Amino acid sequence: MRSAPLGFFDSGVGGLTVVRAAQELLPHEDIVYLGDTARVPYGSKSPETIRQFATEDVQWLLAQGVKAIVIACNTATAHALPHLRETFRVPIIGVIESGVEATLADKDTERVGIIATRGTIRSHAYQHALALKRTGLIIHEQAAPLLVPLVEENWLDHPATLAVLHTYLDPMVEKGIDALLLACTHYPLLIPTLRGILPSDIRLIDSATTCAEHLKSELTRLDLLHPPEQGGQLQIHLTDLSEQFETLAKRFLARSPGKIRRASL
Ligand code: DGL
Repeated sequence: MRSAPLGFFDSGVGGLTVVRAAQELLPHEDIVYLGDTARVPYGSKSPETIRQFATEDVQWLLAQGVKAIVIACNTATAHALPHLRETFRVPIIGVIESGVEATLADKDTERVGIIATRGTIRSHAYQHALALKRTGLIIHEQAAPLLVPLVEENWLDHPATLAVLHTYLDPMVEKGIDALLLACTHYPLLIPTLRGILPSDIRLIDSATTCAEHLKSELTRLDLLHPPEQGGQLQIHLTDLSEQFETLAKRFLARSPGKIRRASL
């Protein structure tokens, strides 16, 4: 089982930010990535639809013989993680628990801002998970639906993106947040821009990095780490293939994605 691949899925190619972070920490793991590009975005869909899509994504990955699954999508984690854990026996890791732990790692954090898709914000999954772990936190949530298309357009520091970021974030900054949770696969690409516009004492928590750290500790705990001598292959499968997705995949992964295959769910 240890030599079997890990399965990652996301609504599209944004989850490759999580793959990239995982590959840095776990270079020997083979990864099968499924991006549901035919049905992206999940962030604007209803909870029922997201659960149905996520269930189909997991079924497809299980058919590839994966040893564990990473939901490399905040919206799918927010709406489908409990359902998937009840339905399937394979270990399933989402992006929320680790993001919450990383936020609370700093004992002095009292005021947390969360930005995410509409679906993630509506679920209040981060807010609930944070409140369960620490009482007395002040949490400000903000749906930021315009950021995914702006990142996909590569408008990372375009004046339009700066204006949108200020509109979403200035009210939170005025309320005095100490940490900002970037609760969406696409937002790590905005970190340099965010550093330029936010006060330097606001901690940025990137769920891709923290999820990779959590994955490593879970694989260690379950004795599922890949033997060190081989491995490290990445296979990307998308439910819709287009030149645009290939270009985006390269950007999210920060290197060539290799041959991308078409998946039929
Ligand atoms: N992957 C989604 C997330 O992390 C963003 C894109 C979408 O809305 O499907 O929430």
